[in-house]
Amino acid sequence: MPVVSVESVGKYEGQEVTIRGWLYNLRESGKLLFPIFRDGTGLIQGVASQKENPAAFEALKGLTQESSVVVTGTIRADKRAPGGYEISIRGVQVVHRVPESDPYPIQLKEHGVDFLLDRRHLWIRTPRQAAILRIRAEVIRAAREYMDSQGYILTDAPIFTPAACEGTTTLFEVSYTDEEKAYLTQSGQLYAEATAMALGKVYTFGPTFRAEKSKTRRHLREFWMLEPEAAYTRLDDMLALGEGLVSHIVQSVLKNRRPELDTLKREVAKLENIKPPFPRITYDEAVKILQKHGNPAKWGDDFGGDEETILSSEFDRPVMIHRYPAAIKPFYMEPDPNRPELALGFDMLASEGYGEIIGGGERLSSYELLLKRIRENNLPEEAFQWYLDLRRYGSVPHAGFGLGIERTITWICGTEHIREVIPFPRMLYRIYP
Ligand code: 4AD
Ligand code: MG
Repeated sequence: MPVVSVESVGKYEGQEVTIRGWLYNLRESGKLLFPIFRDGTGLIQGVASQKENPAAFEALKGLTQESSVVVTGTIRADKRAPGGYEISIRGVQVVHRVPESDPYPIQLKEHGVDFLLDRRHLWIRTPRQAAILRIRAEVIRAAREYMDSQGYILTDAPIFTPAACEGTTTLFEVSYTDEEKAYLTQSGQLYAEATAMALGKVYTFGPTFRAEKSKTRRHLREFWMLEPEAAYTRLDDMLALGEGLVSHIVQSVLKNRRPELDTLKREVAKLENIKPPFPRITYDEAVKILQKHGNPAKWGDDFGGDEETILSSEFDRPVMIHRYPAAIKPFYMEPDPNRPELALGFDMLASEGYGEIIGGGERLSSYELLLKRIRENNLPEEAFQWYLDLRRYGSVPHAGFGLGIERTITWICGTEHIREVIPFPRMLYRIYP
């Protein structure tokens, strides 16, 4: 008898199969029981009849939520059933019975988010959370598939680093040895620049860390980033790459994770729009749009959540904003040769007000200017000697960006808060479980 996953039962209509999972819910109605099972791939309702299968009926009767069970029975199509199929139960083996004295803490009702976050190790079993994590896997798979298809080579960046990449205020310090301090990486970029000079086109994919001191619905302290970097490339090449990457990710989720999007009640029409070309506007134009909406932004200001929401509401797909004032961007950005007060950097804002998902641009290629910026920013010159070497030995124009994986998933899933899109979120005041 085949052991099948719930998501594949449609292929076994009329056949007897085995499903291995957990009891999600149980409705009792006299001589009939209507359990719902989950196995991580979906939910399926079963029917157990006392008359036809007394042993199975007795095993299920009164069975507690989240008890683990192996069920055999015949798959039948049923339009009213969630998922469209039902299993007529013939046999039940209870693998582990959750005791009545210590019931499963998460019931099928609304719970407060702190209650759920304290039980994140169990919360991920609920259909909504499992759907998000399945979409997460697809986002990562599709992102890597796209980068590989464009000839980018995966090169891993270290997690312990000797210096800051994205400002010194969000560094996590660790003692590396008794004498030496290290910092958890904020971005793999600087190392990707080195591997790009070795291999041409590269990307890193890994966890990054920022000691964010405020609680927002867009910030994690540990998040994953995909960071392409390529030698002999310019800002415009990166806009095109970012647009292609994000479109491919969204279209892959639409194609391969439709039932999960339905579980989340995501409005898919909005995602179907996500195809090239994405609008490109300059920072100067962005400030004008904000002012037109009565926002107090003036030239030279950085954009926060409110500004991002206004800007993204102007477009039906992600918008790329380029050429920001150099003063509000990191030390490593190449200035615009026509207007040196601007940096050749860009951000991509997701549609529907989900905020920045990509940050990147052209890197400084001049040794002298980079050294000057390192000094102006009071960065430890010693720790950056290797990075300066990239400008000492065959410096070339190069560019890249970082795609925040969780920001991207939050947008695609349409979830309120970023904490739901990573299995175990790390936020201010939260490190358990
Ligand atoms: O804009 P950021 O800070 O850019 C960099 O780190 C560059 N070094 C990347 C590069 O050019 N290789 O971060 C990139 C992206 C943001 O656009 C956002 O999507 C995400 O990383 N991000 C965060 N996601 C969740 N929580 C946080 N605290 C985040 N900070 C940034
Ligand atoms: Mg940024």
